[in-house]
Amino acid sequence: MISEYAFRTVKLPDHARFDTICIHAGQTPDPSTGAIITPIYQTSTYVQDALGVHKGYEYARTQNPTRAALERNLAAIERGKAAFGFASGMAATNAVMTLLQSGDHVVVTDNTYGGTYRLFERVLRKYQLDFTYADTSQLNEIERAIRPSTKLLFIETPTNPVLRITDLAAACTIAHGHGIPVVVDNTFASPYVQRPIDFGADLVIHSTTKFLNGHSDSVGGAVIAVRDDHIEWLRFIQNAQGAIIGPMDAWLVLRGTKTLPIRMERHNANGLALAQFLAAHPKVSTVHYPGLPSHPQHELASRQMRGFGGLLAFEMGSLERARSVLNNVRLIALAESLGGVESLISHPATMTHASVPPERRRQIGITDDMVRISVGIEDLQDLQDDLEQALARVSP
Ligand SMILES: Cc1ncc(COP(=O)(O)O)c(C=O)c1O
Repeated sequence: MISEYAFRTVKLPDHARFDTICIHAGQTPDPSTGAIITPIYQTSTYVQDALGVHKGYEYARTQNPTRAALERNLAAIERGKAAFGFASGMAATNAVMTLLQSGDHVVVTDNTYGGTYRLFERVLRKYQLDFTYADTSQLNEIERAIRPSTKLLFIETPTNPVLRITDLAAACTIAHGHGIPVVVDNTFASPYVQRPIDFGADLVIHSTTKFLNGHSDSVGGAVIAVRDDHIEWLRFIQNAQGAIIGPMDAWLVLRGTKTLPIRMERHNANGLALAQFLAAHPKVSTVHYPGLPSHPQHELASRQMRGFGGLLAFEMGSLERARSVLNNVRLIALAESLGGVESLISHPATMTHASVPPERRRQIGITDDMVRISVGIEDLQDLQDDLEQALARVSP
């Protein structure tokens, strides 16, 4: 027999703090069973009680309860008003770009994710959108790139893989002074480390594939919005274009966000410790990590970020020496992607940034001897031992 208590909901207090929000926001026990975890509503349609009488769900591209729970959860985590789940981070970025019209111009962080650059240059230019890539970490470069036709400032901070930081509050002030909305791709930092809406951003994009899911077992994306006109359009385009996150992936991300704070604490701690270890290693020439005092924007990162994240890059002096590290690590897996519990190592020039032309790579500081690590949450000593033995094989 179903007891009356089965329907008592778990209530999130109004003053709930970040860690509590991550676990509970957007979810109530399932109304039909009391299941504490939102079920995977793996259905394409919903039976209507009578013509025009239904429970708010008609067709699963338009509405799905698992996706809706994830969207409420992400909106609360990023302190936005609404969130929209997409099939991938790229689908989320593409949806944001549909806010624009032909002839519009966008100022973009020059060191943006290679797939974003490819979408803008190879696809969206066909629709007469124009892009200027600026070093947004230099505020005067933002100002200089703005034109009368600029309709969006697209920021990525920290950038991949050299971890350059843009001052979000200052960049938003400049853009808003010209009436330009600001979108921040917050994939690299995660909302534990920084929440762009707190600094004035209008839209936040995530590849949920990364830290939000956190377990390397799902591909997805999300857009979080605050403005009613953006929310209305994004809800429309999510249904009109149909690039939605599926219920299984939505459920996996929802599971991931419950442990986001404790995972990020460990990513931050391991990231800083490995950056310090590499910076002190005689075979490593340069380490890029905002937590190191040698990082040119260490002070800004300390103000803007909570911890410095789980991504670091380092230079080995030559492609051969970089190859030696990449081929000799054993515990750290050679793979694309980032943000999972397991550590991954990659070669940006030939992997994540292969679609960026070589001279542009050089301009944005991606050298052929650069190695990137997405530092996972394994035991720090095991990670350090693995790098130590791989570095020992590099010729002096
Ligand atoms: C910063 C950033 N944004 C967007 C994406 C695209 O996300 P997805 O692979 O989920 O389409 C990635 C993927 O690596 C990324 O690193």
